[in-house]
Order: sequence, then structure tokens, then C-alpha cells
Amino acid sequence: MKVLVIGSGGREHALAWKLSESPVVSKVYVAPGNPGMENVAELVSINEADLKGLSTFAQEQAIDLTVVGPEVPLLAGIVNVFQEAGLRVFGPTKEAALIEGSKSFAKEFMQRYQIPSGSYFVTTDFDEAVTHVKQQGAPIVIKADGLAAGKGVTVAFSEEEAIAALSDILKDSKFGDAGAQVVIEEYLEGEELSLMAFVHGDTVVPMVGAQDHKRAFDGDKGPNTGGMGAYSPVPQFDQADIDQAVREVLQPAASGMVKDGRSFTGILYAGLMMTGAGPRVIEFNARFGDPEAQVVLPRLESDLAVVLLDLLSGETPDLTWSDDAVLGVVAASKGYPGPYEKGKQLGMLPDAAYLFIAGADRKNGGYVTAGGRVLLAAEKASTLEEAQAAVYQKLEQLDDRHVFYRKDIGDRAIKRI
Ligand code: AMP
Ligand code: GLY
Repeated sequence: MKVLVIGSGGREHALAWKLSESPVVSKVYVAPGNPGMENVAELVSINEADLKGLSTFAQEQAIDLTVVGPEVPLLAGIVNVFQEAGLRVFGPTKEAALIEGSKSFAKEFMQRYQIPSGSYFVTTDFDEAVTHVKQQGAPIVIKADGLAAGKGVTVAFSEEEAIAALSDILKDSKFGDAGAQVVIEEYLEGEELSLMAFVHGDTVVPMVGAQDHKRAFDGDKGPNTGGMGAYSPVPQFDQADIDQAVREVLQPAASGMVKDGRSFTGILYAGLMMTGAGPRVIEFNARFGDPEAQVVLPRLESDLAVVLLDLLSGETPDLTWSDDAVLGVVAASKGYPGPYEKGKQLGMLPDAAYLFIAGADRKNGGYVTAGGRVLLAAEKASTLEEAQAAVYQKLEQLDDRHVFYRKDIGDRAIKRI
């Protein structure tokens, strides 16, 4: 089989790696990919926004299966375009991807299907938004309605902070059209869990849980990022917690999408706050999490290509998972998620068990930075403690003049802080 992965980040490197391990896969292409992926895939220089160009490539090369990593092409309708061209593709249509693309849609959908989530208020009007914030008081959560690369959320601990976030979104259009509306949400307290599932219509096959680290700096300080590191499993939760989240969130969401005529095929990701009263949905994503994919896929012992083909043909695959723990740490350009410089020499890369490259380019025989999140290094071990120690030891090999990484990935599980 020839497989095409769409995207260019660490998640797509992990997908390309995992697919390349499959005995039924003869060749993996990745479009546009990045030079760090050349160890597992052939790069195709077609941008992920060029839907027609990608489907023409897939037809000409007789690609047997396309897997879409990021949300932007999904919401632009890449799956619709591929399906119309008669191509086999794993991912949601743009109608189904709306569960990620519009937070107000997701909230309204959850309300209709009694999927547990915080209370919310949607508006396009700044004054109305301010009135609502003053009525509710802080802490309160302000979100741009549309896609904002994980950066459109402010957890405000004062009314002033909430109003400043509303002003950024509604008055200064910080997120462009994605911020034409805001969702103002009840603040939820608890421990977070990223729970992803392979979904095809009513069929939901859950993965093992993971925990991301959204804040830029140690101790969960600093601005929200796309994710600075992750680990799996999450020992704060047991199988009964996971089963409850599947029963109360993922299964009703998949079935609700079918009932709504938006049947979902792909990876459904529930970002959950595990509260004293049970799981509450913070967000849905219509794809693998990044960096969750980089720590969950190394634990998957099943053949990913076979799993996806089985799902697409209406079967329910049985997954096998390694009992080992995987912990991954992101190295990001200094300045990220704010402005940062590109083209900085990286020097030697860490020789970690898993090294997934995201924002890096090749130059003069070495790597230079080319994006915010540059790479993720991960290790697998029988305990999270061992995986954490191993990864940080490997990261000492990295020249940190131009990149930084959090030193506390996994501490919530290991030190129970
Ligand atoms: P999101 O981009 O929706 O995943 O939000 C980014 C982060 O903001 C989440 O991982 C949470 O840590 C936090 N967050 C989002 N919504 C809420 C909420 N309603 N209550 C508390 N924290 C939240
Ligand atoms: N790591 C969170 C996300 O992919 O949205």
C-alpha cells in the first residue's frame, strides 16, 4: 500500500513513522512534511492548503490511503475533495470537523445530546460580553469561536483580564474571522485528560489517555501554546474513569454526529476536565492531538494502517497497547508562542528513542529552526519516572541557545502536584 500523510508537524512525523512500520505499507509520502521526516517518508512539496493539488497527486500516484493530520485542511474540506475524487481517506468531512472548527457549534451540540460540559454564553457584541462577565465574575474562560492554533483561550482570574481578552478578540480582531464571535465559558476545576478515539460513524474505538502541557513555562505558567509536552498513561485516572468518559462523552458525540447528518470518520479528541462530578468537555478536536499523538502512537502495538483500513470498511478493530509509559518533551524556539526568529542553528539533536521533528529545516548539513515548536523527544520505559529521567538526560545533548523546553513534563503524575 502507498500511504499519504498530510501535514508538516511532529504529529505528522509520528503518523508517518507509525505507518512506515506497517508490513502492509510499501511507501509513505508526506505533504508537505519537513526534512526531519525523511527517515520514514518521501516529502511531496504540495502545501496542505492546496486540496486540488493533493488529490491530483494522490490519483496520479495511486495512493491507497490518505491520513490527514491538521485541522485546517479538514475544515477546508480536504476529505470532501478526496471522496469526490474516489480516493480512500481517513478523516472527517468539513461538516463533521465543525465539532472542532466552531466552539459555539460544539457547545450547542453537547447541550442537545447531554454531553457534560461547562455552561456558556456566545456573543459577537463586546458590551454584551462585558455585561455577562460582570454578572458571572471571575474566574471565567474567554474563547475565540474559531480556529486559533490553541492560542485563542484565556483563563481569566479577574474581570479585568477577561475584559482585556474580549477586547483583543472582538475589538482588535486578534484572531481575525476566528474571533468574530466569542464563547464565554464556566471555569472548570480538575485534572485534564486528553482522550482520543478512532471513530467511524457509531463505531468508537478509544485509545489510551494522555496529558498535554498547554502553558509555555514550568509550573503551568505563561501563555497557552499548542502543547509543550505530553505523557501516557495518565495514572491519576483508572480504567473506570476512561470507560466513563467514553460512555458519557465520546460515544454520545459520535452517535450525535450521525443523528445530525454529520457522521464523523477520523480521530475524535476529547479534551476533558475530570471534575469531582465526572468528566466535562473542554473542547473537541477532529484529529490527533499534537503532542499527544507523539506519546500515544509509540504505545500502539497494533498495525495503524490495518486499524484505519478496518475502520473504513466498517469493522471494529481490537487494539493492543504497550503497558510501558511514554513521555515526550517539546523544544520550542525562544519567544514562542509569541514572536520568534527562524533559521537559528540547532546543532546536534538528542538521540532519544523517539525524535519527532516539527519546525526545523536542513541547512549546511545540520538543522536550523523553522517554526515555533521545533521537535519533540520522547522515551519509553516501564514507569513514567524512568521515561522522564531518560528524556531529560537526552535533552542535555541539545544546544539551548535558541530553543527552550519545560523541565517539569510529567510532574503532575510523578509528584502528584
Ligand atoms: P483549549 O484550547 O480549548 O484546549 O483550551 C486551552 C486550555 O485552557 C485547556 O487545556 C485548559 O487548561 C484551559 N481551559 C479551557 N477551557 C477551560 C474551562 N472551561 N475551565 C478551565 N480551564 C479551561
Ligand atoms: N495538544 C492539544 C491539541 O492538539 O489541540
